[in-house]
Amino acid sequence: MGKKTVFFVMGVSGSGKSTIGKLLAQDLNIPFFDGDDFHPESNIKKMSSGQPLNDDDRQGWLLVLSNLATKELAKNSCVIVCSALKQKYRDTLSNSIKNETKWIYLSGAFQQIYDRVNSRKNHFMPSDLLKSQFDILEEPKEAITINIGLEPEEIIKNIKKELMHTSEFGLFGLGVMGKSLCRNLANNGFKISMFNRHVDKVEVDVAKNFKAQFSELSTAAAFDDLADFVNSLQQPRRIMLMVNAGKTIDYVIEDLLPHLSENDVLIDGGNSNYKKTKERFEYLKSKGIHFIGTGVSGGEEGALKGPSIMPSGEFSAYQNIQKYLETIAAKDQNNLPCCTYVGTEGSGHFIKMVHNGIEYVEMQLLAEVCTILEELGQNPDEIADTLASFKSTADSYLLEITISIFRKKENNDWLVKKILDKAGNKGTGNWTTIASAELGVPSTLIASALFSRYISFYKDERVQLHKLFKQDKSSEVNVSINEVLEAYQFARIINHYQGFKLINEASNKFSWNLNLSEIARIWTGGCIIKSSLMQDLVLVFKETTNILTNQKLIDIVNQYRPAAKKLVAQCVLNDIAAPAFGEAIQFLNGITTQYASANIIQAQRDYFGAHTYQRLDDDSLKSYHTKW
Ligand code: 6PG
Repeated sequence: MGKKTVFFVMGVSGSGKSTIGKLLAQDLNIPFFDGDDFHPESNIKKMSSGQPLNDDDRQGWLLVLSNLATKELAKNSCVIVCSALKQKYRDTLSNSIKNETKWIYLSGAFQQIYDRVNSRKNHFMPSDLLKSQFDILEEPKEAITINIGLEPEEIIKNIKKELMHTSEFGLFGLGVMGKSLCRNLANNGFKISMFNRHVDKVEVDVAKNFKAQFSELSTAAAFDDLADFVNSLQQPRRIMLMVNAGKTIDYVIEDLLPHLSENDVLIDGGNSNYKKTKERFEYLKSKGIHFIGTGVSGGEEGALKGPSIMPSGEFSAYQNIQKYLETIAAKDQNNLPCCTYVGTEGSGHFIKMVHNGIEYVEMQLLAEVCTILEELGQNPDEIADTLASFKSTADSYLLEITISIFRKKENNDWLVKKILDKAGNKGTGNWTTIASAELGVPSTLIASALFSRYISFYKDERVQLHKLFKQDKSSEVNVSINEVLEAYQFARIINHYQGFKLINEASNKFSWNLNLSEIARIWTGGCIIKSSLMQDLVLVFKETTNILTNQKLIDIVNQYRPAAKKLVAQCVLNDIAAPAFGEAIQFLNGITTQYASANIIQAQRDYFGAHTYQRLDDDSLKSYHTKW
């Protein structure tokens, strides 16, 4: 049977739990325990006087059974029979052994069980008692569900079939991220199935070869046949798609659909567009299939050791996959998973998109910092040292990797200097900019970071124009390292303000009810934008949705603003491109201006287009038009 497991057999009274539990234990040759034998004296008294147990009575008893399960598991597998009608009872029972627990739910209709019990000799169960059990029954989502109408031998056969031949989680698409997630799942003790398509001469035996490469995959099942892959999974199936975002997802969904059953859960772990995720959610819903769109951040290493995971969709579908995602996710400083149910529709992919927008800016700011340090005469090793000195106040994953990048040498020369200066992109920064324009949110830094990448792409034109325009490098760049650090911290606060503002506005517009503090929390570990600032924001967002109203951050912004102004001014005077820093300072200027120049825009609009305007001296919101 592989790894040690506690098999809990559950169901209402009369569903045949003891019979099936005993048979199963016999068949598997493992100990059997009837939960009813472990009630404390007080419960026995209560029950024999005809009073029903309440949740408090049950709690102690469930803990006894949970201890029993943990103790037995240290030695062997076992079968424990317990009605466990509510999810919270089951949570208590399997609390510390979630990954080593299998639930077997004996399911039957009220009348079927009622007739069955009352046809037994010397048995009588009042219909009220049975009804009250059905009333509190919360059907388990993660159980092997068995119809009690079958003969006991058949039931055992079915249970064994489910146990022996099925994986609990399927991973579709063995690219870099898919492979790392497979190893992460397997390292956490999950029985998985892995699929990669077969393409003659190009993708051959990918899953099989991958399995052979890593010992942790010895119990994983490898497929290149879609039907076999799907059939290897326990129902309701859980299949995570790790394929290229875009049309491919739709093709894969169409290929999978004929093999799926009602209530199966598909998870899209790619960087998909949030609007598409909503469409796919609706489409699959019409087919009885659940769809969870989830952001996954952390790259190859994160996926292997613990990524940040941002799932959204129907909460009940999430519950079915929660155990897997939360187990493989990175852990925050309180050891909580960097994975949380984000909200409905495509909200998970939306926040992943904004995560990437923030990521673009954080990368751009660091690139600008390095350019300025270079202008100050530092070589790559010195730049790495300077960045390392930033760690005590502005630590982040991106800062750390940038330090390593600047230290990396190839044949005694710095590698970073040999890299073509054209920045690529896969589209998420583009989408974030489009989304902020659509939602009317000024994400100026994200747009600027994106457009900087686009400018970089015009390499030939840049080289040509460089020769045509005079560069003013006459004066020294007059900025200290400490001022660079302060300007950097200043701009990062503006970046995070804008990113979270975009999330908050989308949340309001789409009624997603997103929890900004929780989003910041799952971004403190595993992901590309994890940082000490992000950790501070977890607390800040408990108080406000606008970080520029937090007194501590107001003080920091006020304190560092002069350095940011000086840095931007020095860049302008010395013809150094530092657009993200420039946007940061200009954005703060704009958002703190009491009376903006928009009055002039309004007048111009009214002048040429009779678009009307409102007046400061009339607060009725009446529209005015002037014959200019
Ligand atoms: C992550 C990254 C990841 C990836 C994107 C961004 O969170 O792990 O954001 O999703 O790096 O593909 O890529 P581009 O820079 O190519 O747009």
